[in-house]
Amino acid sequence: MTNLIDVGGAPAPSATDRRGLPTDFLFGVATAAYQIEGASHEDGRTDSIWDAFARLPGAVVDGHNGDVACDHYHRYESDVAMMADLGLQTYRFSTSWSRIRPDGGPVNAKGLDFYSRLVDSLLEKNILPWLTLYHWDLPQALEEKGGWTNRDTAYRFAEYAMDVHAALGDRVDNWTTLNEPWCSSFLSYTGGEHAPGRQDPEAGLAAGHHLLLGHGLAVRDLRAADPTLKLGITLNLTVAEPADPSDAGDLDAARRIDGQFNRFFLDPIFRGEYPEDVLADVAAYGFDKYVQPGDLEVIQTPIDALGVNYYHGELVSVTPPERAMSTEAPSLRPKRSPFPAAEGIFWHLRDLPVTAMGWEVQPEGLTRLLRRVNDEYTGEAVKLYVTENGAAYNDVVEADGSVHDADRTEFLRQHLAAIVDAIDDGVPVYGYFYWSLMDNYEWAWGYHKRFGLVRVDYDTQERTLKDSALEYRRIIGNRAL
Ligand code: NOJ
Repeated sequence: MTNLIDVGGAPAPSATDRRGLPTDFLFGVATAAYQIEGASHEDGRTDSIWDAFARLPGAVVDGHNGDVACDHYHRYESDVAMMADLGLQTYRFSTSWSRIRPDGGPVNAKGLDFYSRLVDSLLEKNILPWLTLYHWDLPQALEEKGGWTNRDTAYRFAEYAMDVHAALGDRVDNWTTLNEPWCSSFLSYTGGEHAPGRQDPEAGLAAGHHLLLGHGLAVRDLRAADPTLKLGITLNLTVAEPADPSDAGDLDAARRIDGQFNRFFLDPIFRGEYPEDVLADVAAYGFDKYVQPGDLEVIQTPIDALGVNYYHGELVSVTPPERAMSTEAPSLRPKRSPFPAAEGIFWHLRDLPVTAMGWEVQPEGLTRLLRRVNDEYTGEAVKLYVTENGAAYNDVVEADGSVHDADRTEFLRQHLAAIVDAIDDGVPVYGYFYWSLMDNYEWAWGYHKRFGLVRVDYDTQERTLKDSALEYRRIIGNRAL
């Protein structure tokens, strides 16, 4: 392995200064292929499920799509220079399956070549590449064969993982199989809010299992190819709390959300079993028939890193709240809960600030989440990273082009402080990736929601560092808040 920064075997971080981050803590940012690359049909790339979904009337606000996005495919060199200018130590990006195996067919050398050039420019700037193999853009041709509800997709995923490894394994050490499989199963096949837009509880469960199987198969094959790789998965985890902790119904609502959001993924990966209570919750949907003998051993193949994506927590009850958390969905279609067994659950809005997504800002939830994951799942065996955390706000561009995003700057500082709190509590956290480097395609919300540290003018593709980017650069430089 020739990575310039080697995170393997680094000693556990220790917080010496209350506001400081350990010397081996990695500061990064995250993006995803479909959200930034553009060049959607260039150099052999074909449709992913997101290209197809974006064409469905009403599926994405204003029919926005990723055809051009941030044009990163053509601007990657200057984007990497911008990352270096920000002092970033690591960059989490995803590879597009539809570029690498268009239509799920044979390998497309031109697609792989793009990522090879990207990795080279990162390494040249001493930025550690943090590669995610699947950030939601399944080739549409595979969706037409059932997508993630088809068991075969898990095996196709492992094959594709090995193709990427064959091209980049000499330069990339840190591999993430899946990003947020809850979204690519339940939100996509049950809630219908994300591609492919299906609304079927059984399909979401089948997709969830096949994604986990694909993860396990890929980890097994990558490990066999090179035992020195650092392998992991990124999950979107939450802190679910009952509105009234003395109410049995509210407690059960929090249990169901925790089960289907967190434990449906964590338990098979770390314990080799689905949680009994979740299996009971979803018994009506015939989930059992998808789980074949041996699957759970494959899913439990040991990993080195767990990525936690944290945006907000949830306060839930079985009685309607005074103030409900916004469940505004971008899709024009009738809304369906992504949780197969969440009937009768209500989401409360607490007295907390909210972002432009309508999400509560609850940094202390991150501290508690990290502590719990460390205590119950990862311990000393698996390194914890916060692989996404960020906020959309309605940024105002001043006459001189600057963006004084005090809200995002505060959000960033508060969440880094929450990580310092976790580290102080003895939870080793090894890195933080702000979502996102720059404004980009926010899925069903199109370009309307801006999460970037860097402003993108979609008419000119001009990039401007927001105040939050300047603050992040300062924090990275000082390694302290
Ligand atoms: C998580 C997803 O991984 C990312 O693609 C998305 O843009 C952010 N959350 C914000 O919603």
